[in-house]
Amino acid sequence: MIIGVPKEIKNNENRVALTPAGAKELVKRGHTVYVQHNAGEGSGFTDAHYTLAGALVLASIEEVYGVAEMIIKVKEPIEPEYKLIKEGQLLFTYFHFASYEPLTKAMIASKAVCLAYETVEKTDRSLPLLVPMSEVAGRMAIQKGANYLEKPLGGRGILLGGVPGVLPAKVLILGGGIVGTQAAWMAAGLGADVTIMDVSLQRMRYLADVMPANVKTMMSNEYNIREMIKDADLIVGAVLIPGAKAPHLITQDMLKDMKQGAVVVDVAVDQGGCIETCKPTTHENPTYVIEGVVHYCVANMPGAVPYTSTLALTNATLPYAIQLADKGWKKAAQENPELIPGLNIINGDIVFEGVAQAFNAPYVPVNKYLVD
Ligand SMILES: NC(=O)c1ccc[n+]([C@@H]2O[C@H](COP(=O)([O-])OP(=O)(O)OC[C@H]3O[C@@H](n4cnc5c(N)ncnc54)[C@H](O)[C@@H]3O)[C@@H](O)[C@H]2O)c1
Repeated sequence: MIIGVPKEIKNNENRVALTPAGAKELVKRGHTVYVQHNAGEGSGFTDAHYTLAGALVLASIEEVYGVAEMIIKVKEPIEPEYKLIKEGQLLFTYFHFASYEPLTKAMIASKAVCLAYETVEKTDRSLPLLVPMSEVAGRMAIQKGANYLEKPLGGRGILLGGVPGVLPAKVLILGGGIVGTQAAWMAAGLGADVTIMDVSLQRMRYLADVMPANVKTMMSNEYNIREMIKDADLIVGAVLIPGAKAPHLITQDMLKDMKQGAVVVDVAVDQGGCIETCKPTTHENPTYVIEGVVHYCVANMPGAVPYTSTLALTNATLPYAIQLADKGWKKAAQENPELIPGLNIINGDIVFEGVAQAFNAPYVPVNKYLVD
């Protein structure tokens, strides 16, 4: 198959969808890989790295879209890319269709096959191509939180791990899923006094089993949260209710009970945030202060560490990309049911029910396209 890897053109997006190692795997299997000039630059991969791996470098995005049967990307196509997409072309990338109607309409009009990273789903209902970014964001939440607790950055001037003779900082993590667990490992490793709150007893049993002694678990409810925030130095928001807005577990009035210079890192900001006062911020201007509490609410945290994020993402996407290249999307989906929910739009039909519902548009069951 002919595979194209364009350079991401979305503002401040430095990830790339295929590493030189991934290109080598595909080339080894007889596929042709075209990479746009400088596509890997932001993640630390040069054109020469790709050439050495057997890929071919093309000068322009038009050439990449023009030649490829499958486009592998990171972010959803943006307006200037719409006209480059061809009928029947397979696009394998994050789309998040339900949040943006113009993209959905453009992909319907293109008659391309849109396979979305975010809806590829394992039989246990986990989302294997979302997990890596949650892992990155969870780990980064503690790095950022520790940083903003420093006095010159507006924090209360406490070191997460304390020192001998001085107590460590208290870290409260709301939500013990992927983000929360990774945050807890990092905070615990730095020596902080960590509490994870979740509503799932089963999840907390697991966490209590695997976490070190400086991590405790506690049921998430309003009473407990009100108690815990009084002492917290750093709070990480990591709650997710699939398909819904995050619940506001900390409301504006509750901030008054918190310590001056405490920090909240609301990773769940992309779903509306679990702290009421959180509004999306950017890496250029990541924080603001309300009631003396520093708020860090960057909606695309992994974007700040493109090297790690690219490797983490491509570790997860490459096995699927190989199946798609080897078999074509139809046979690959027939043989691997994890790919089926990833199919969102085919030949102008919306085949993912949630997207059709979001826009009150006609829905065509994906099976129409999977029968021989
Ligand atoms: N800002 C970013 O850059 C970024 C990056 C990656 C992920 N995220 C977001 O982080 C959030 C968490 O993602 P995840 O992968 O960890 O999700 P997850 O599904 O793995 O974990 C969510 C956890 O929240 C728990 N939960 C639900 N209701 C709760 C409540 N009332 N109180 C406490 N816990 C509750 C669930 O039981 C679950 O354990 C998502 O909104 C995700 O989109 C943001």
